[in-house]
Amino acid sequence: MEKKIALSGVKPTGAPHLGNYFGAMKQFVELQNDYEFYAMIADYHALNFIQNAEEMQKNILGVLLDYLAIGLDPRKVTIFKQSDVPEHTELAWIFDTITTVPYLKRSHAFKDAEAKNKEINVGTFNYPMLMAADILLYDTDIVPVGSDQKQHVEYARDTAEKFNRLYGKTFKIPEPMILKDVATVPGTDGQKMSKSYGNTIPLFAEPEEIKKYVMGIVTDSVASIPKNVFAIHALLRPDKELRFLYHAKAGKYKELKEMLIEDLEKFIAPMREQRKALARDIPGALGILKEGGEKAKRVAERKMAEIRKKIGVSL
Ligand code: ADP
Ligand code: TRP
Repeated sequence: MEKKIALSGVKPTGAPHLGNYFGAMKQFVELQNDYEFYAMIADYHALNFIQNAEEMQKNILGVLLDYLAIGLDPRKVTIFKQSDVPEHTELAWIFDTITTVPYLKRSHAFKDAEAKNKEINVGTFNYPMLMAADILLYDTDIVPVGSDQKQHVEYARDTAEKFNRLYGKTFKIPEPMILKDVATVPGTDGQKMSKSYGNTIPLFAEPEEIKKYVMGIVTDSVASIPKNVFAIHALLRPDKELRFLYHAKAGKYKELKEMLIEDLEKFIAPMREQRKALARDIPGALGILKEGGEKAKRVAERKMAEIRKKIGVSL
């Protein structure tokens, strides 16, 4: 039987944190054996936020090393960058022509930016159409993402349906795949862990960093259990075991934090060291990206030829 297709992407906007890993990236590794998996570096999405060539290059390479260090196997997974497959931006344009402004205005990301009175660029406004193109070009069955990306996958579904209605069946309708237990990973202050809140623990943190960040966790507590420490610890140990431990050491915040530091170091160290080893062979990593780009492009080109026929621009 043919494998189903999974696709996801990460924006190269800076070092990943535990929220990115447990909310989204961990699933990639788990899915790579059972799905034909496309792991994309969403550099054109990141262009909305990173407008500096050096930083962009550094971040793209960063995501590539992250993907490999968490255990994506390039023999199984197609690792590629969005900008290597111009069909993504081409299809996004076509989607723009069948999408209305009020519909895009309903996006959470757009509403958040508007509420903050931010100046919103057109790229941010159209973000969901580029993401729909990413997903639909590959006849994707499932899209593993964190819960905050659910709406974006819905945009892709709606857009596929609209196109299919207008031009005849062309696109598969993708499903989001969201890990239930860790829908949202909390940060060191108890809010959602996010780069934009400065409350993250980096996925590849050095031992001193782990210590510094864990010691900085805000210790609001319920029945002498520091809930933010517990919530992060819960990513690493079974709930039952952890409850037992936290009750046994109720009120001993420092000891609990030290245990968390130890567990985090055990969890992070192998990936961190693997990433360092990979970083010693940048040409090798870039070779993987090039090969992935070529493979993705072959698939996207074929789909795009079909789409151009459907809309009547190929004679
Ligand atoms: P950030 O909020 O730090 O900027 P991104 O928006 O770049 O993170 O998210 C990248 C991926 O990681 C997305 O799939 C998102 O759903 C997931 N993700 C980010 N933060 C969390 C979190 N705290 N809990 C669960 N998933 C998260
Ligand atoms: N929007 C996603 C994020 O912010 C990144 C992304 C871009 C993506 N294209 C995608 C995720 C396609 C899944 C599928 O995390």
